[in-house]
Amino acid sequence: MSGSVGKAFGKVIVLGEHAVVYGEPALAGALAAGCAVDVRKSEHGLPHLMLDTRVLEVSDADNGVCKSMKIAQDAAGLGALALDVTIRFDVPVGAGLGSSAAMAVALPRAMFAFAAKTLETARLIELSTQIERVFHGNPSGLDAHLARTGELGLFTKKDGLQAIRAKEPVRLVIADTGVGRSTQTQVSNVAARRERLGRPIERTIEAIGEIARMGADAVTKGDLPRLGELMNANQGLLSALSVSSQEIEHLVHVARKAGAIGSKLTGAGGGGCIIALAPGKEEEVAASLRQHSKTVVITTLGATS
Ligand code: PMV
Repeated sequence: MSGSVGKAFGKVIVLGEHAVVYGEPALAGALAAGCAVDVRKSEHGLPHLMLDTRVLEVSDADNGVCKSMKIAQDAAGLGALALDVTIRFDVPVGAGLGSSAAMAVALPRAMFAFAAKTLETARLIELSTQIERVFHGNPSGLDAHLARTGELGLFTKKDGLQAIRAKEPVRLVIADTGVGRSTQTQVSNVAARRERLGRPIERTIEAIGEIARMGADAVTKGDLPRLGELMNANQGLLSALSVSSQEIEHLVHVARKAGAIGSKLTGAGGGGCIIALAPGKEEEVAASLRQHSKTVVITTLGATS
């Protein structure tokens, strides 16, 4: 048996993070970049697991990646085989870009392909949910859905993802602040602020939801200047929720100064990544951001839309 590859997409929240926790919609899309897993039979008869260029101890039961590999390997009926598994990411890891969900989808895909077994969608969803739980207590399912489908759309907790079609490809520049972040901490900080301040925060959340709806409409119509303006407005409101940071604001302003028509944090905030919309000026914006960020990627939103 030769090597088999399973792939899945990363994701980005374009508009609406945090408000989505309170039932508002978020505009989110898969990224063309994501995770690729290569599975082949071990040449030396010993299991071998590589995470990018790092070798992991396969039997390390406390390691999330090893646990995930075991779930996928057993599900594909390959439990007894010594495998050579390589996991590669082309999105920053642990930065709110859905890297763990992409791995949770790519691993079963690669294992089932290697076993020459059909992987039904329902089974893939089941397995990716199980793997995502290794990393996050209670995932919303948004990341895994986008990792699997490559779609773009409006997501609500109630209805899941309503896919939309972008009139024109939306290219984004993504830059990592390099500052770690915890989704859970940021979400509970917003909850505490809402509790303390009440109405102004509730209205901010509603306004963010409205911005996400308008953004979906702008993407459908190919109105990128409007999308950019909405991204900037959303950044202001996220700042009002206190989930922005000095490092985020710095990168956002570097991007805007270099020609981005929209720039904001993406995901939970407090650290992690920023996104910038700079139609026709992606390279210039990326070059400026590279002077302040170690990881800058230019990618297209909605890999399959
Ligand atoms: O940074 P991420 O990908 O974990 O995104 C968090 C998005 C939030 O809206 C802040 C939380 C959530 O569960 O939707």
